[in-house]
Amino acid sequence: MPTTTHYFPKNFKWGTATSSHQVEGNNHNNQWALWEQQEGRIVDGDVAGLACNWWLNSDGDFDRMVALGLNAHRISLEWSRIEPSEGQFDNAALERYRAMLLGLRHRGIEPMVTLHHFTNPIWLEEQGGWENEAVIGWFARYTAVVVNALGDLCDLWCTINEPNVYAVLAYLGGTHPPGHEGITKRSFAVLRNMLLAHGAAYQTLHQKQVLARVGLAHHMRYFSPLRPNHILDGMTAKFQDYAFNESVILALTQGKWSLALRQGATQSARGLRGTLDWIGLNYYTRQFTMFDIRSSATLFGRVIEPAMLREAEIFGYHNPLKTEISDYNYGEIYPDGLWKLLQRLGRLNIPIYITECGLPDADDDQRPAFLMRHLKPVWLGIQFCYNIVGFYHWSLTDNFEWSEGWRMKFGLYAFDHVTQQRTLRPSGRLYGEIAKSNSLTRDQAERYAPDVLLRLFPT
Ligand code: FCB
Repeated sequence: MPTTTHYFPKNFKWGTATSSHQVEGNNHNNQWALWEQQEGRIVDGDVAGLACNWWLNSDGDFDRMVALGLNAHRISLEWSRIEPSEGQFDNAALERYRAMLLGLRHRGIEPMVTLHHFTNPIWLEEQGGWENEAVIGWFARYTAVVVNALGDLCDLWCTINEPNVYAVLAYLGGTHPPGHEGITKRSFAVLRNMLLAHGAAYQTLHQKQVLARVGLAHHMRYFSPLRPNHILDGMTAKFQDYAFNESVILALTQGKWSLALRQGATQSARGLRGTLDWIGLNYYTRQFTMFDIRSSATLFGRVIEPAMLREAEIFGYHNPLKTEISDYNYGEIYPDGLWKLLQRLGRLNIPIYITECGLPDADDDQRPAFLMRHLKPVWLGIQFCYNIVGFYHWSLTDNFEWSEGWRMKFGLYAFDHVTQQRTLRPSGRLYGEIAKSNSLTRDQAERYAPDVLLRLFPT
């Protein structure tokens, strides 16, 4: 019999993910609010502004989750609202978060709460942000206040979103505040402090909540040598993988610093061992890399932007890797990368959540197939007995996409930030069908992604 339906386990979590600054609106007390004021930092001079207005009203979007049949949502808390000045906590802000979490609970949506998603209170930024080791204690104190105030409404905690991306974009790429470029050493120090802060928050959460389930959202890229048989390209891909992907896993599962993280470390990583009750995987794309002696900041691997591959095609060169590039040149559409990374995480023997996965696609001509093709390896992983327990699509609606402003559209709902209007995209309808039926079906592929039907259901 040909396989026409891929069923997911009964309690599988189908969700969406958001972060405070990207959806709440009127966040004026964090470093991003200041960054947005600086000329040239954000595409088209955009600002988050009112964003999706969740601070005043998140009910409409929570209802949209229900309409799609979702049973989970990953939300983040804005540290700068909860602790607007150092050591001063704002009960009204905590009350607002209680209302949001209750709003989700009443709708049958299980919240996963992220404590830090890229934004810092200004008082922290002014004291060196995550470069300052004191942040570890400050983060633990903030975590304690949060779990005391919200612990009856949430037990699934994601301490920090993408420490590696934070460190790279803020200290190597320079596109996120504080906007330093090429400072590898400081970037590693920031990553180290974030991992230590995760460890401190892990202990705090468990001391205060016996049944807490604590993890972190780890952004992983699948690093590939640009020239597959080139030894040096192969080595740089391995180095980058070790520094970006593996060093986080090594610290939090085995309590060991990678080579780079060991330089300048004043604290041992031993206490971090076993501080993941689960791991979150944020997966977007594969990263090509090529050996280049001048690229010391990126461990001698030149990062090949997808635009370069696309240009090669435009100029009539063959794209030797046959990559499929997403709109906005955001990255290659590469579901195999997700499969390979899931195989790797499967060996950790802890529950795995896909805490983010998605692509910018305003006209929605790529997202339906993208969704089905990325859910297939998730399903396959479950068949291989990897403990994959949930998938959070990034994101519910288009939202403020950091330095890309409002230009990049990741939503299942199109969102006009001027009129605040939301419109369901076909991919949103598809995701709703998948969540409600708790399965991927041949019929969905026929209707939403006929071009990839045979890749999904070969027989
Ligand atoms: C991730 C971020 C998230 C969003 C998506 C597109 O790296 O965690 O906030 O920007 O990328």
